[in-house]
Formats: sequence, structure tokens, C-alpha cells
Amino acid sequence: MQRVLLGAALAFVLAAVLFVPEIRASWEEWWTYDGISGPGFWGLINPQWPLCTKGHRQSPINVEPEKLLYDPYLRPLHVDKHKVSGSLHNTGQTLVFRVDKDTKHHVNISGGPLAYRYQFEEIYIHYGTENSLGSEHRIHGYTFPGEIQLYGFNAELYHNMSEAQHKSQGIVGISLMVQIGNTPNPELRIITSTFNQVLYKGTSTPIRHLSLRSLLPDTEQYMTYEGSTTHPGCWETTVWIILNKPIYITKQELYALRKLNQGSAEMPKAPLGNNARPLQPLHHRTVRTNIKFRWQESAKKCPSMHREMYYKANTWNPNDPDSPYPV
Ligand SMILES: *[C@@H]1O[C@H](CO)[C@@H](O)[C@H](O)[C@H]1NC(C)=O
Ligand SMILES: *[C@@H]1O[C@H](CO)[C@@H](O)[C@H](O)[C@H]1NC(C)=O
Repeated sequence: MQRVLLGAALAFVLAAVLFVPEIRASWEEWWTYDGISGPGFWGLINPQWPLCTKGHRQSPINVEPEKLLYDPYLRPLHVDKHKVSGSLHNTGQTLVFRVDKDTKHHVNISGGPLAYRYQFEEIYIHYGTENSLGSEHRIHGYTFPGEIQLYGFNAELYHNMSEAQHKSQGIVGISLMVQIGNTPNPELRIITSTFNQVLYKGTSTPIRHLSLRSLLPDTEQYMTYEGSTTHPGCWETTVWIILNKPIYITKQELYALRKLNQGSAEMPKAPLGNNARPLQPLHHRTVRTNIKFRWQESAKKCPSMHREMYYKANTWNPNDPDSPYPV
């Protein structure tokens, strides 16, 4: 019965989307994180987004530390230290920072698992309305209170994100897990201090001189796999790089974030948070890492990632001729 009702409701949405011109014009806005336009329906709402339903290389995923594959050929990731300016937008679905269109000095992302130079384009901010919800990717089943995703497109092969997202090796996504802490990331403050300017859907605020390099946690270690954008159309052209250390946000900053709304001042609807797509099946993909097995336990701030210490794949065994030599 419920299914029939849902089907009828969906048919209604589709009819509305197809036949009411004003709605068709804003087709791209017809998705949410819950209800009949939620993640399970993204692929049905818009025929341009079939991968959201049918794709086998989708994101986010749960990263299982003991299944990571150490790849000695992975290089350090490079992000230009040049600062960017742009605007932070409350889209009603999520919080996005978009770099100014007329930017002259683009921030390049290269190295790591990337075979091309990518141009930074936007940041998506995912967070929960409570601390146990927030991140899209999970590490060993653990959900962080937030996840900040830096997206760029392959600037050697393509002109812009909309072209690149359909094409091979089109997109890079760098994922920063966000944890609550007393020594917050100072660069993150540049963003968090503007949250009260984007309380409602459709509002935006300029952000100047943001250094993406400074936003990154202090680590060269990462995990990488081939996946998709975690928002529609779920483009399976995304190389994901998940850095192996969280960045920190204060409780106060997180509270400010939780005041944001999906709707307008007159009709705020619901809080904007919990904007996470559910986990997607791995479908036999490999998650590679440049994290080397280490014996000694170091001072760790991030309990959920501590399993890196027990990582054993591909460790060198001098008695086994097939064992790879350590670098
Ligand atoms: C990014 O790469 C392009 C092309 O090589 C270059 O023109 C630009 O200056 C680079 N950006 C920075 C900030 O170095
Ligand atoms: C992206 O680049 C393509 C190919 O050059 C062009 O046709 C399209 O208009 C561009 N889109 C945007 C949004 O700039």
C-alpha cells in the first residue's frame, strides 16, 4: 500500500516536473535528502541522472581499513597554495562554495593518484544535526560530524565542470573529515564565520582569500578510489581522495551550521543538515592508500582511523619472492 502511494506521489512529481514550465525550468532543484525526491529517487526524478539508480561505481562508501591496498606508486597530493575567492550558497539542499567565475589564478590539484591537472571549482559541506550524523564517507563504519568535499575538474582535457562530469577522468573529489575539537582549523573559520549570512535557501555570501592548502589537514596520507559525485547526477567520473586525518571544527561553529534552513525565512521547512547520501555498495572496487604500515602507536587524535596502524596488505616479506619490496 505504502509503495502504491509512493508510486502515485512520484508520478505526480514527475507530471508536475514535466508539465509545469516554471518547475521544469528549475528541474535541477528537484532533489532532496529525504522523502519522495530523496537519494533513492534521484535517478527517477531526472532522466539525465540514471547513474544515481543504476550506477555500480557510486559514492560515498564505507572505507574498511583492513581492506585497503597499499600502493607504493601513489605520489603526494599537490594543491596550489594560491588563495581563492568565491561565494558560499545555501541551495536548500546543501551548502556550496563556488569559486568566482572570473578567477585568473586557478588553484590546481595534481599528483596523488591523478594523471592530470585538475582545477578547483567548488566545496560541498556535509554535516549532521547531531554529532553522530554528518559525513558521507565512513571510516570503518564511523560517521564524522561533518565532511568537506573539494571538487575540481580535469583542466587538461576539458573546459569546465559541466563538460568534465560526463567524461573520462573528469572530476576529482578531495574529502576532509570534520571532527569536533578545541583547536579548530583557522582557514575553516573564514567559512564558518559567514554561516549566519546563509541561513535560508537562496542566500549567498562572498568569501575572499581562502587558502585551500591551509584548509587541508597536516598529512600526506590518503585513501583513494574511483567513484561518483555524491550529488545528482552521480557522475561516475570522480577520483576520490580521502585524507587520513580530520580537520577540526568547534562546537560553536557546528551549532551555527545547524541553524541553517532548507527553506526561506517565512517557511524555514527543516534544518539543512543531514545532507548525506547513504552509503553505496563497493561492487568489487579497490581502495588504494599510500599509508605505510607502522609498528609504533603514535599520539592519535582520530580514533576512527587508528586501524591504519594494523594495515598489513603488501608488507614486504624477504622469504617470499612475490612480496613487493618496500619503498
Ligand atoms: C595552474 O596551472 C595553470 C596551467 O599550468 C597555470 O597557468 C596557473 O598559473 C596555475 N595556478 C597556480 C595558482 O599556480
Ligand atoms: C562548458 O564547456 C562547453 C565546451 O566548451 C561549453 O559548450 C559549455 O557552454 C560550457 N558550460 C559552462 C557552464 O560554461
